[in-house]
Amino acid sequence: MPQDTITITDNRTGQTYTLPIENGTIRAMDLRKIKTGADDFGLMTYDPAFMNTASCRSAITYIDGDKGILRYRGYPIEVLAEHSSFLEVAYLLLFGELPTASELKNWVNEITHHTMLHETTKKFMEGFRYNAHPMAMLVSTVSALSTVYPDAKNIHDPASRLLQIKRLIGKMPSIAAMSYRHNVGFPYVYPDNDLTYTENFMNMLWKIVEPKYAANPVIARALDILFILHADHEQNCSTNTMRAVGSSHADPYLATASAASALSGPLHGGANEEVLRMLDEIGSKDNVPAYIKKIKEGKGKLMGFGHRVYKNYDPRAKIIKWAADSVFEVTGRNTKLEIAMELERIALEDDYFAQRRLYPNVDFYSGIMYQAMGFKPEMFTVLFAIPRTVGWLSQWQELLTDPEQKIARPRQVWIGHETRAFVPIEKRTPVVAATR
Ligand code: SDX
Repeated sequence: MPQDTITITDNRTGQTYTLPIENGTIRAMDLRKIKTGADDFGLMTYDPAFMNTASCRSAITYIDGDKGILRYRGYPIEVLAEHSSFLEVAYLLLFGELPTASELKNWVNEITHHTMLHETTKKFMEGFRYNAHPMAMLVSTVSALSTVYPDAKNIHDPASRLLQIKRLIGKMPSIAAMSYRHNVGFPYVYPDNDLTYTENFMNMLWKIVEPKYAANPVIARALDILFILHADHEQNCSTNTMRAVGSSHADPYLATASAASALSGPLHGGANEEVLRMLDEIGSKDNVPAYIKKIKEGKGKLMGFGHRVYKNYDPRAKIIKWAADSVFEVTGRNTKLEIAMELERIALEDDYFAQRRLYPNVDFYSGIMYQAMGFKPEMFTVLFAIPRTVGWLSQWQELLTDPEQKIARPRQVWIGHETRAFVPIEKRTPVVAATR
């Protein structure tokens, strides 16, 4: 009997089946052989929320949740955060290798020359209410780019894919900054190609009337590190969305907008904004024990805690805490940091959280850091979407070049009615009673 196999006995029929084990998985389609008779459809797996289902084979990002390991293309996140720039990491995620000096110089030049937005985008942006949420503006505007670049539909053309990828990476900060300036009623600031990726983003956000924006280098570096930490995270909810939409061969602007929509949810990328709301609600260190008690009674979740994969400390949270110290030296520490540290201290000592393996995740400290940098909570998920665009596009490319992939179309377990006879309207009983 070959070693890498599993033998299943179907007790309904006494039949046994030997299935191959590959990369720690069995193929779901192999289960379809397990039938009770010729008319039987065969077995499926039932896995709501895909808790234990691999949807693809990937070489981009590796996570070990128990060991708190995160690697991009084999490089530990800690090393990349310390030694690389965000665009260097973007190159690594997209092309699989760290760039040489000349490759990086050319790549930065390419991205820098894709930061401009079509002038009609301003009119599009001005259509939003003054208090429109920046994430909703970003999702809508990214979708609208699909109308500006109809050539993006050529998803089988590698050159067209690369052009759209450069456009999206270059334009995300411009769209994000525009949505912020719209929110605060300031005029839009055009990109400044003399600046680095993050310095230019800060320029488009915060330049007022000075002739040339001068970015604080500590803030710029901290933002670059945050972008590196948020660039990709294997098959998370928004990446799964990118792959699902990409699998129908929709263009990359619409797929990216769909992924950003998924990211906006409070259980995913929207959590950093919710962390700030939670800290505001707690109000002071003294109120932390009462808040923890409320969570333990099942009244809400500790935002910024817990993770589907990390059942140990999220390695990104550690790096963010380290980067936050450099930011707070410039901006000064605020009470929210004290509340967050007290919350973390108490939670990590409490069995309720330890039993559920709940530790701070990437969103727990990032929100406090963003706020210290001068961002409003509504912008936090936008700051997540900018770098994660690189991850979504890397995964999108991998999907389109994977010969095993086709349009994503899961099955279901039927729990509804069997065939029913039609009921003439005069003989129907009111449905409302049933829904009260
Ligand atoms: C991101 O997937 C990724 O990689 C995502 C991400 C990325 O980079 O793309 O890492 C980014 O989304 C980070 C997660 C940000 N979300 C939050 O911080 C929101 C708060 N966290 C949770 O909602 C939750 O922890 C999730 C959604 C992150 C994970 O949920 P799971 O894996 O589905 O776990 P679960 O909901 O089944 O929880 C297991 C138990 C439950 O308790 P019991 O019902 O068994 O008693 O833990 C409890 C949950 O109620 N629980 C929490 C909790 N998270 C889970 N209880 C209190 N506070 C929490 N934060």
